[in-house]
Amino acid sequence: MKITIVGAGSVGSSCAEYIAIKNFASEIVLLDIKENFAEGKSMDLMQASVLNNFNSQINGVTNDYSKTQDSDIAVITSGIPRKPGMSREELININAKIVKNVANNLLKFSPNIIIIVVSNPMDTMTYLTHKVLNISKRRIIGMGGILDSARFKYRISEQLLSPMSDIEGMVIGAHSDKGMIPLSRFATKKGIPISNFLSPNKIKLIENETKVGGATLTKMLGTSAWYAPGAAVSSLVQSIACNQLKMYTCSVLLSGEYGFSDISIGVPVIIGRNGVEEIVELKLNSVESEMLEKSVQSVKLTNGLLESM
Ligand code: LAC
Repeated sequence: MKITIVGAGSVGSSCAEYIAIKNFASEIVLLDIKENFAEGKSMDLMQASVLNNFNSQINGVTNDYSKTQDSDIAVITSGIPRKPGMSREELININAKIVKNVANNLLKFSPNIIIIVVSNPMDTMTYLTHKVLNISKRRIIGMGGILDSARFKYRISEQLLSPMSDIEGMVIGAHSDKGMIPLSRFATKKGIPISNFLSPNKIKLIENETKVGGATLTKMLGTSAWYAPGAAVSSLVQSIACNQLKMYTCSVLLSGEYGFSDISIGVPVIIGRNGVEEIVELKLNSVESEMLEKSVQSVKLTNGLLESM
């Protein structure tokens, strides 16, 4: 299994590290435009492999896509991250050009590749990748909901003083502060709805903290987060590589599911060897459906900006 990660910044390199530690990839290519940067990160990670006992070969390259030839999976992390106070949508001008170029280069050398898009605004960058490459919709996956769901579960476990492994929870909708929809009605502690343990006010607090999960970290770190994003990507990559058929929320192109088309947005999906194996349609209540409708409209607005570029 050959995996390419484009962008050796904090998210890209954290992603490479988690994939390597999980020990299921034969080769990881880390590519960056900055001379020798990916090479340096790769050398550092290879030296860590001596101590952490993993066997993936990690190769760093400076902008040479021929080295990504015949990759099974690629992750696009390139572009600029947000700074404190910025929304993910504000990155569109710079990141759209970068993502377009990267996606074309990846497909040129690996015609059967499955692509995971991380660059922000992620739902729009995923949609752009679909438009530019025009390949099966199973093979382009946006990483956002899986990360937002992890942040949701973290906040629930914090309020319940429960181990994270006892918590289930899912966030659907856009990967944006306003468009995220934490589905509290479906969240449980060991299968028991969280409303059995928490007041409506506490649940509201959890939902609000989840929605600004990325912004909170950006404020604290001065740039966007990388450990949880890297771990989230590595989970998606592993579910594809090992055909685990795990269910995660991902941004995928809808063609009538949930009543929407021609949009990529976060919904639960089954991830396996073919990429998106299935889109899972939940029965949403009227409040949740209305929130999804609003979230779709906000992403469509951002997608509309692509036309003027
Ligand atoms: C975040 C970035 C990856 O939410 O969008 O941290």
